[in-house]
Amino acid sequence: MSADKSTSWSYTEGLPVEDAVLRRARERSHDLGLFPVSPGVAAVLTVLAATSKAQTAVEIGTGAGVSGVALLRGLGPKAVLTTIDPDVDHLKAAREAFTESGSPANRTRTISGRGQDVLPRLTDAAYDLVFIDADKPSFPDYVEQAIRLLKSGGLLIINDALDKDRVSDPAIRESSTVVLRQVGKLIREHDSLISAMLPTGDGLLLAVKR
Ligand SMILES: C[S@@+](CC[C@H](N)C(=O)[O-])C[C@H]1O[C@@H](n2cnc3c(N)ncnc32)[C@H](O)[C@@H]1O
Repeated sequence: MSADKSTSWSYTEGLPVEDAVLRRARERSHDLGLFPVSPGVAAVLTVLAATSKAQTAVEIGTGAGVSGVALLRGLGPKAVLTTIDPDVDHLKAAREAFTESGSPANRTRTISGRGQDVLPRLTDAAYDLVFIDADKPSFPDYVEQAIRLLKSGGLLIINDALDKDRVSDPAIRESSTVVLRQVGKLIREHDSLISAMLPTGDGLLLAVKR
């Protein structure tokens, strides 16, 4: 990356001015040892949620709610976010963030469980948006589930898709990097998806279901 590109990336990540709700959610994330989405990714999530006009969204990997608040801020007033995490402390922190954001309780459905167990119970073609930000070894399974869950025209968003800039270097064989390389290939080559990679944060992979 040229020095200018790296400067532009830092500049872009520094542009969003986050309010007290997001700042507190970030503090809770750090207290719990979590890595929430970057400010640039949070801003993109809000824009994508708004532009998609999604009524039904699923998040895998609630954390302490930074990405959830960002999604809720873009989703319409009647939209519902279903968010899944096996860790009850993370869910408790996220609920605090959702409440502080002013989002009515009936707009979020927090499910305590592993994505692998919960996603198969959700209805086919019932969701407009799926956001994946959980355990990386399971990303290929989550992508398969997301394709089943999404309506035609629905949007899939995958966080950390460049895995700390390692995905582009084929010599790097870290397990998380190999998985994310596979996920990128699977999505690019999938007949029912139209995709694009954004370098925002640690890489945000977007795909629309035809
Ligand atoms: C990087 S954090 C999510 C951060 C969150 N999206 C945000 O921006 O605030 C990853 C989360 O995935 C959760 N997780 C781990 N294994 C999981 C699984 N099998 N299914 C769903 N979530 C899982 C962790 O408990 C953690 O809260």
